[in-house]
Amino acid sequence: MTRSPNTNAAVPEREQWTGQIGFILSAIGSAVGLGNIWRFPGVAYESGGGAFLIPYLVALITAGIPILFLDYAIGHRYRGSAPLALRRLAGKFGEGLGWFQVVIAAAIAVYYAGVLAWAASYFIFSFDQRWGDDPTAFFVGDYLKASSSPFTLDFVPGVLIPLVLMWVVLLVVLGAGVVKGVQRANVIIMPALIFFFLALVIRALFLPGAVDGLNAFFTPDFGALADPSVWAAAYSQVFFSLSIAFGIMLTYSSYRKRRSNMTGAGLVVAFANSSFEIVAGIGVFATLGFFAHQQGVAVGELEGLTGVGLAFMTFPAIVSEMAGGGFFGALFFGTLALAGLTSFISILEVVIAAIRDKFGLSRIQATAWIGVLPIISIVLLGTTSGLTALDTIDQWANNIGIVVSAIVMTVFVIWVRRDGNQLASHINAVSTFRIGKLWLFFTGVLSPAVLAYILVAKIIELITEGYAGYDTWYLVVAGWGTIVLAVAGAVLLPMLAWRHDPDKFETWPTSEQLLEKGGAR
Ligand code: ALA
Repeated sequence: MTRSPNTNAAVPEREQWTGQIGFILSAIGSAVGLGNIWRFPGVAYESGGGAFLIPYLVALITAGIPILFLDYAIGHRYRGSAPLALRRLAGKFGEGLGWFQVVIAAAIAVYYAGVLAWAASYFIFSFDQRWGDDPTAFFVGDYLKASSSPFTLDFVPGVLIPLVLMWVVLLVVLGAGVVKGVQRANVIIMPALIFFFLALVIRALFLPGAVDGLNAFFTPDFGALADPSVWAAAYSQVFFSLSIAFGIMLTYSSYRKRRSNMTGAGLVVAFANSSFEIVAGIGVFATLGFFAHQQGVAVGELEGLTGVGLAFMTFPAIVSEMAGGGFFGALFFGTLALAGLTSFISILEVVIAAIRDKFGLSRIQATAWIGVLPIISIVLLGTTSGLTALDTIDQWANNIGIVVSAIVMTVFVIWVRRDGNQLASHINAVSTFRIGKLWLFFTGVLSPAVLAYILVAKIIELITEGYAGYDTWYLVVAGWGTIVLAVAGAVLLPMLAWRHDPDKFETWPTSEQLLEKGGAR
């Protein structure tokens, strides 16, 4: 415990990463996840192939990296979880925005655990190719026992057991702390992940037909660039994939030491994440090229090229066609599970950090408090209606929740609080890569304008067309309900008292002091 200079109230000591490497590996671990491996390849293919790299890079440079730096600046300067840091920056409204981000992160965690459980099961199934001749029927029927009803309480033991295991692993890691749990898990998992991933991609490149897959993936369709939904897809991809605007990077940067090269690390993380994404696209499409070659069809005629269909229906079918396919399948599902696990850890850390800060809990207590999340996750994902729940919550949390959070955060910080310059000088005082007017323009003007357009278009689409043919009542409860819950959290939680006075904290030296002194550590 330390005594803050301006209050007698004891404030808890904040945990810190042991160094730059621990932080960078953990931040890359958070960024690289399902978004890179199963989402990016299909989204890119459907949105103009090689030409998609243009909106993707524009979104990355004008919104992804600038908002990553904003998350870093807020987390590091105000040293808190999303509600605490934003409260210190912007009072009760800021705290509300922080809780909105926490609820969105919790909603994502609920279904993320389900996909991890499936990946873990399929890692084992790969060895004897348990899906047999019809992987789609096996996945939907034998494995998920999917019901046509959108909500049931019929538990499926084959999903339930790995799901519970995933939550146990996660709670053990988070309960152990930032350094002994989160950092250690990432330092062990990330090198293994990179090794498995590269082995997978290299094997894929030597499959017959791989070149046809790469041609299909990279052949640019420049006409697609005139379609606004292609640009929207690029922005959503970048936000989810970089783990920004829903509390993760803000929380992770709050554990950094005073003098930490924030932008340098940010650029490494962004570059690593995008490289992983593009290499995943190469690996996945080389494999799809092989599959098309075996079937005697063009790659464009294949179905199930993204998300759940790609991973759990198309990939198992490919594994069955391949000599030594079991090993290839285990590599693929092992990679998916490891990449997902490190992201899952970071998503839940948002929630743990927030309730610790607010209620003054120990890590173990906070981990016990969030026990309600595994229960919701098990009820929604461990039953015969799990696939529908996953699909619906994912659609709303990402396309509405994260986008709303990004717009409110950028507008509020830059325009209402007018804190942009101060945050930029904070970042510049400790970092090698300096940010200035261009960053302010991208963060305060361009990003919110583009995101507002994307948000309105998405809301209209969801209201007028519904989603995936699911019942309207279900979309209202599970989809819009997720957003209502986040808003309720934003309104109600700031009303509860803080265990410690959130506005009194030992501030970092000012930017000028940091520069003058060469930075006290
Ligand atoms: N950034 C994480 C992912 O890509 C959430 O899956």
